[in-house]
Amino acid sequence: MNDDKMKAVIRSKYGPPEVLTLSEVKIPVPKDNELLINIKASAVTNSDIFIRGSKISFPIIIPFRLMIGVFKPRKSIIGLVFSGIVKDTGSKIKRLSPGDEVYGMTGFNLSAYAEYTCVKEIDSTAGCVSIKPKNISFEEATSAVYGGALALQYMDLGNIKQNQKVLIYGASGTSGTIAVQYGKYLGANVTGVCSGKNIDFVKSLGADDVIDYTTTETLKAGTKFDFILDCAGHGPNGKKRTSQLKEECIKALTEKGKCVSIDDGALKLDSKRLDSLTKLIEDNKIRPIIDKIYPLEKIVEAHKYVEGGHKKGGVAIKI
Ligand SMILES: NC(=O)c1ccc[n+]([C@@H]2O[C@H](COP(=O)([O-])OP(=O)(O)OC[C@H]3O[C@@H](n4cnc5c(N)ncnc54)[C@H](OP(=O)(O)O)[C@@H]3O)[C@@H](O)[C@H]2O)c1
Repeated sequence: MNDDKMKAVIRSKYGPPEVLTLSEVKIPVPKDNELLINIKASAVTNSDIFIRGSKISFPIIIPFRLMIGVFKPRKSIIGLVFSGIVKDTGSKIKRLSPGDEVYGMTGFNLSAYAEYTCVKEIDSTAGCVSIKPKNISFEEATSAVYGGALALQYMDLGNIKQNQKVLIYGASGTSGTIAVQYGKYLGANVTGVCSGKNIDFVKSLGADDVIDYTTTETLKAGTKFDFILDCAGHGPNGKKRTSQLKEECIKALTEKGKCVSIDDGALKLDSKRLDSLTKLIEDNKIRPIIDKIYPLEKIVEAHKYVEGGHKKGGVAIKI
């Protein structure tokens, strides 16, 4: 490989996992306000599946396609999440330096399925970047950044107090696993909802109670929740993930109770929130979960696995 070339996964059209191919492209050069990141790991998130296949329901598909390309993708390299090492910095960079281990998201710039990418140091729709927690691997950091950004943003809307009853619907996925642990950190009594095979796993994250949405349609008499976070959102097929149990849980909200979905509004690309997440992880309050790790060469296989809709924690790509 030439010195100015890197491995990257590219695609020229929307479609199934097979549209993704491994290729060799030029290493990007950072602008004055950008960092060049040597990416060590990326992830296959549900967002990457939507961006690749663009399977989003009407009418959300309209603004989504306007942003990522109407008839064909605007960006050939996809990948929303990265962790890696700062390789080079533009002249206006102040906060980070070469050699720093970082994690973040690339926003509408995508381009994380590659050995290098450029990211602005200041938060924007083109991404956010922060110092990676020292006590986790690059792969774990990719699960932390996506699940953590979603979980913290939407859990904080609950203004959760000590001993309140919190329900995490979709507790075994990338955001749910972090939401359960964050709820316990805030002192809440946390109930998780997932399928039967993940009950023990969600308990191991600290949940006080776990309910199987595949076999349970009603709640125990007198059950009440102060806050519900729906972390199940939309499945990789673009359809809302719901159940009779979810309807029952919403009916069990207290008078002042609140139900929030991780699909309410846009995910904020916020490096300050990542700094808080770094501290929680380094203080051992939150442990990011990795289901599987694939090499970049197996990106098609990784996308097929995540399309199955039942990853446990996150799926990382080692680069
Ligand atoms: N607001 C934004 O800007 C924004 C940005 C990015 C993503 N999102 C949303 O976040 C979602 C991704 O979240 P994630 O990666 O944490 O999801 P995930 O890892 O795919 O986890 C999904 C969870 O939902 C559970 N589940 C699946 N079907 C269910 C059903 N019918 N009822 C109850 N639970 C069900 C799964 O449990 P089992 O496996 O045990 O069944 C799992 O715990 C996206 O799909 C999108 O909707 C929003």
